[in-house]
Amino acid sequence: MNADADVLSKIKHASEQDRQCRVVPDFSDIDPGLPFVPEVFTQLYHTSAYDLLNPEQKLRYNQLFGLRSNELFMVFEKGVTRQVIHQLKNARQESDPLLADCLEGMLVEESRHHAMFLDFNRRFLPEGYSNKGRCFTRDSRLEMGVLLTRAKRPGLQPLLLWAVLVLEEFSTAYSRKLVSAETKLPGSLEPSYRRLHALHLQDEQRHVQLDSVLIRELMKNGNPLQRGMNAQLFRFFFRQVLNPRHSGPRVIRYLVTEYPELNRHLADMLRAVRKLGMDPGLQNIMND
Ligand SMILES: [Fe+2]
Ligand SMILES: [Fe+2]
Repeated sequence: MNADADVLSKIKHASEQDRQCRVVPDFSDIDPGLPFVPEVFTQLYHTSAYDLLNPEQKLRYNQLFGLRSNELFMVFEKGVTRQVIHQLKNARQESDPLLADCLEGMLVEESRHHAMFLDFNRRFLPEGYSNKGRCFTRDSRLEMGVLLTRAKRPGLQPLLLWAVLVLEEFSTAYSRKLVSAETKLPGSLEPSYRRLHALHLQDEQRHVQLDSVLIRELMKNGNPLQRGMNAQLFRFFFRQVLNPRHSGPRVIRYLVTEYPELNRHLADMLRAVRKLGMDPGLQNIMND
């Protein structure tokens, strides 16, 4: 058995075991008095406009930002990740059934994560998620562009896998940092939010391993021109992911609907966040 086949067998075994014993988490006891994430994960914290909020508003901003991160993960899990992994699984069904089984396990787990994140967000903010799955994000033009590229250019498959890997590395790093922040300072973060990410982390660690196997395989077969093109597109994609200009400002707008007295500071807060070149909260999560 080669090294990758050994890794795949272990992933498949762990995934099946996990599926048998995993219970559906109960998020009926979310504590509204505790923050969801360390302040450094958020955007406004890295600007002087953060001091325009009082302690109650800072707590609420933190919680809304935590919901927005869950929502971003849901968008990845239903969008780019699902599309790419589903296509790869179908392509390998005959030639590599072990890999196809692992990819099927990953799809099942991503659906489970999506349901878990949505359940958490709906329980905490029912008015925002009452009859829809999104509150802070919109259909991503980038995501659409990437999917269209995939459809037209089979040589760009490695780019899409790199994109999936970045998203999964990010969501894994996020969950890992969150769990370890709470371990270092017990009681500092809301326990249900931590539990949600501890469960997410359990599966995502396997997914990142699986993505690496896939990328090694695809890069072996690419020609130098395709590899150069993929590297450039990857850098573009990474900059887009780190850009704070999209869903972050919607969190601020939502906060202002709850605290209308903040309306006079809205323009300053939005300007401060938009001035951030790269998202410092994301950079903090990725730099470990
Ligand atoms: Fe996931
Ligand atoms: Fe994943």
